[in-house]
Amino acid sequence: MSTTQTSKIEIIKSSTTKINSVDFENLNFGAVFTDHLFECDFKNGKWQKPVIKPYAPFLIDPSTRVFHYGQAIFEGMKAYKDDNDDIWLFRPDENYYRFNKSAVRMAMPEVPSAIFMEGLNELLRLDEAWIKKGKGNTMYIRPFMIATGTGVVANPSDEYKFMILLSPAKAYYSGEVKVLIAEHFSRAANGGIGSAKAAGNYAAQFYPTNLANKEGFQQVIWTDDATHTKLEEAGTMNVFFRINDTLLTAPVSERILDGVTRKTLIDLAKSKGIDVEVRPVLVQELVEASKNGTLKEIFGAGTAAVVNPIVGFSFREVYYELPKIENSYALQLKEHLTNIQHKLADDTFGWTV
Ligand code: COI
Repeated sequence: MSTTQTSKIEIIKSSTTKINSVDFENLNFGAVFTDHLFECDFKNGKWQKPVIKPYAPFLIDPSTRVFHYGQAIFEGMKAYKDDNDDIWLFRPDENYYRFNKSAVRMAMPEVPSAIFMEGLNELLRLDEAWIKKGKGNTMYIRPFMIATGTGVVANPSDEYKFMILLSPAKAYYSGEVKVLIAEHFSRAANGGIGSAKAAGNYAAQFYPTNLANKEGFQQVIWTDDATHTKLEEAGTMNVFFRINDTLLTAPVSERILDGVTRKTLIDLAKSKGIDVEVRPVLVQELVEASKNGTLKEIFGAGTAAVVNPIVGFSFREVYYELPKIENSYALQLKEHLTNIQHKLADDTFGWTV
């Protein structure tokens, strides 16, 4: 290990690398991490000196607050390497903004941009060899923060750890995605934490999603908790519907995550002249459209999943299969988006950094 110092970040380099043991062509999502991680602790009311150090497990007290009360938030971002070996981030300011919005909702301290962004840039620079060129190759970035204060009193912690992990990634889903529309379980409620990227939002979905998996569905599409009549989002993605040639998606709310890919696709679709409606989409509307042949596509959108076509949905035990169509919006938007991300198309929107 060797230690150097940038102006703000201490860098402890690993003396070995795992890179040669990684099969970059066959990556399971989120299973492999690079040689280093970024870490910064919050103590005594302020952020401490940040450090980049070799990726390794750490010791933590069993009474640490995150284990008991779930004060934990995260983000999902990606980095891309272009043909000139330059590294690009996609709308990182959006993730940074949302991370701190989640922090506020979970009574956690906001992370200064100098820590979040400079930590991320420095970490990407150090583990740059892990970012592979070519479409389909990405570096998934996982910034997260946990409450590290000890003691089981049910109060917000006074100590936190902010970390960034890097994980080389290809597709999130392999194979077809069928979804089940939820009528009993809910993902979020008004006034709750649905719009925060809080760890517990994901944990709460695991049980209903397991039940759906047993019936052959990869994901659940959540409906609003009050009436279960409006389609909201899928487990790891926001969701879009194409009825005739109009693209529909639910407005963001206290229950729905303000997805970066979601807002990007809305802008991209509009720029292509596609008619986009951001409004509540009813389950009944979807069922009717499927029955009368006007439902052409459903797809999910998220950083990890990118744009993922959904081949069918089930509602009240009836399965509705989507038609196979040429020139799908999902594929057109995915192509355009990934071309921008990999610098293969002009970024007229100024999204790449
Ligand atoms: C992402 O798309 O980055 C997400 O947060 C989904 C994650 C749960 C895999």
